[in-house]
Amino acid sequence: MPTVNSSMQGKICMVTGANSGIGKATALALAQMGATVVMVCRDRARGEEARSEITTKSRNNAVDLLLADLSSQQSIRQLVENFQQHYTHLHVLINNAGAAFPGRRRETADGLEMTFAVNYLAPFLLTNLLLDVLKASAPARIVNVSSASHKSGYIQMDDLQGEKHNRSMRAYPQSKLAIVLFTYELARRLQGTGVTANCLDPGFVATNIGQTGASLPVRLLIKLIGSFGTSPEKGAKTSIYLASSPEVEGVTGKYFVKSLPKRSAAISYDESLQRQLWEQSAKLVNL
Ligand SMILES: NC(=O)c1ccc[n+]([C@@H]2O[C@H](COP(=O)([O-])OP(=O)(O)OC[C@H]3O[C@@H](n4cnc5c(N)ncnc54)[C@H](OP(=O)(O)O)[C@@H]3O)[C@@H](O)[C@H]2O)c1
Repeated sequence: MPTVNSSMQGKICMVTGANSGIGKATALALAQMGATVVMVCRDRARGEEARSEITTKSRNNAVDLLLADLSSQQSIRQLVENFQQHYTHLHVLINNAGAAFPGRRRETADGLEMTFAVNYLAPFLLTNLLLDVLKASAPARIVNVSSASHKSGYIQMDDLQGEKHNRSMRAYPQSKLAIVLFTYELARRLQGTGVTANCLDPGFVATNIGQTGASLPVRLLIKLIGSFGTSPEKGAKTSIYLASSPEVEGVTGKYFVKSLPKRSAAISYDESLQRQLWEQSAKLVNL
């Protein structure tokens, strides 16, 4: 299919987790709108395969691949250096990459709980490292992929890493609530800069989430449950809307479902919690 339209011509968009599921569908749609798309993936082979598919389908050669393991702060810092060597502008940052780890608690190379690190601290660090270039590119947009499951999450400030109460089922909703809190605090800090920050729930989507590192029976179960989900193309619609629609130019600090602003969990509007989480996160990523 050729480029759908040229509405994103001249825009540089970074999409994390762009080799699979919602991220790949988002990257393809933006490429079809004529954007320059920077795909962030952790595996070269999977990334190249997706990049090739996206360039072919979009007929847009301006699709780049940068490698980063978002569980590693060093890798995120390297990613930003690599990006800045090649680009002077960034108009859209989509923090899409995410994972769920059923089963036992895992730690990253930095000694942090894996779900919290990949789903929340990685977007926190990446966004902060890219803020100057986003501001210099304004109008610019930050789009954070959360989940409806944030509503069952809660933030235990003295146990963000789940060390005291290791319940892996709690880590995912906590990370997705943290992303919402982060988005609201970020939007406030960015007032007047021309950079907006919004978050979203993509709905229940049939993707590879939860598969990495899971046992075969768990993988099969997740696959079965996931098969009732919607397609990645449908799941990507709100991300694409927030990244590209003129309707949301200047709209900031909101949570979207099906491309409409909705109320997020009551606790997510707690400004004191937003600030505390920001300060704690800044320490955890050495900002
Ligand atoms: N699917 C749903 O129903 C659903 C619902 C609500 C929210 N979400 C959110 O939607 C987002 C996209 O997920 P998806 O459903 O499209 O799942 P997916 O198909 O598994 O895609 C996740 C992407 O994130 C990447 N990723 C995971 N860990 C990474 C790491 N350490 N470093 C770099 N990249 C990493 C994956 O890379 P690899 O391919 O290399 O693993 C993949 O590209 C996630 O934030 C997820 O939490 C999904």
